[in-house]
Amino acid sequence: MNDQLKTLLVTGGAGFIGSALIRKAIAKGYRVVNIDCLTYAANLENLRSVKDSSNYQFEQVSINDRPALKEVVLQHKPDGIIHLAAESHVDRSIDAPQIFLETNVIGTANLLELSRDYLETYRGPNAFRFLHVSTDEVYGDLTLNEPAFTELHPYKPSSPYSASKAASDHLVRSWGRTYGLPVLISNCSNNYGPFQFPEKLIPVTILRALQKKPLPVYGTGENIRDWLYVDDHADALLTIIERGRPGETYNVGGDSEKTNIDLVKMICQILSEEVPQDWQYEDLITFVDDRPGHDLRYAINAQKIKTELDWTPSVSIESGLRNTVKWYVDNHGWWERTSSAIDQRLGTRQ
Ligand code: NAD
Ligand code: TYD
Repeated sequence: MNDQLKTLLVTGGAGFIGSALIRKAIAKGYRVVNIDCLTYAANLENLRSVKDSSNYQFEQVSINDRPALKEVVLQHKPDGIIHLAAESHVDRSIDAPQIFLETNVIGTANLLELSRDYLETYRGPNAFRFLHVSTDEVYGDLTLNEPAFTELHPYKPSSPYSASKAASDHLVRSWGRTYGLPVLISNCSNNYGPFQFPEKLIPVTILRALQKKPLPVYGTGENIRDWLYVDDHADALLTIIERGRPGETYNVGGDSEKTNIDLVKMICQILSEEVPQDWQYEDLITFVDDRPGHDLRYAINAQKIKTELDWTPSVSIESGLRNTVKWYVDNHGWWERTSSAIDQRLGTRQ
């Protein structure tokens, strides 16, 4: 741990990535204040292993509520903020974009403004940093032959979700340049692992397969994503806030490009070994209408964070996917409450 960074304020800590980050930060000796308003995507169960730690505190506050947010910041006096709170699902953003603008854009602006005020009175060991957790989707998509996204790739978001994240990235950079706020941005590829809300491809596939329901693959299944195990992302975020250079952007990815159809088949194969049936999981695969504006391919060039900050992904897609499948198989209680989500196809509005 960077000796100067003691108290981290994490927004969106009851979600999938935020909870993985908090579990890791507590294990590394940080004090953590989790700000989360608990949307449908949140689950405090994700934090069961740390909730009784004297280093962990939870504040149920929305980043859209600036007075309440200010109170929390002034009360806890963080040395750094890692901002993950967001509406995160592309399909939902297609059906109902408004909340993506409110939370992802205005909510981020609220945090930036508060951080600016706070920095004027901050008397910590001069290490205050604001890390904005963003996505590779801000760059738009790649053709099959184009080189992977570097930090210099132009922004060209395709969905309301990615456009809202792109807008928030621009705000963060501008607060850094104009007001001197010590900001960092990370743009990461698709995450997977335990505790992911069952609306994204991997948990939807696992949970539907376990219930012998059709596995919906959008379009032809040839779209490509670059997968990163969530604990590797959490590690990258702590690395960036500890050692990243303020003002810089770091792309984070898993060097694991897969077509959706290959990934779904991998999950089926793992399931057939872990939970064998007298029928084939692969027979459940069903091609359905494509997502409007569906990005063809994402791929991350993570050379900068590897070279400058000595971070590298440690979990292969094969072992990460097996861990993930096993976790959902073993944690029926966690997903039962939310499993109705797997029966809704969102994001079909043209
Ligand atoms: P998630 O949907 O699982 O969790 C989001 C969390 O934010 C939830 O706990 C929710 O309650 C909270 N939240 C939403 N609106 C809020 C508000 N107004 N105030 C306070 N809390 C609020 O999302 P995730 O997959 O964990 O993603 C976290 C962040 O990482 C997001 O900013 C997302 O854009 C980014 N990201 C995600 C991925 C991915 O593959 N999931 C990849 C790259 C970047
Ligand atoms: P998703 O997990 O929603 O992440 P993102 O859209 O942020 O990349 O989708 C990953 C890929 O899987 C994307 O190409 C859309 C596709 N997909 C399906 O084919 N079927 C599904 O049921 C879902 C949710 C996604």
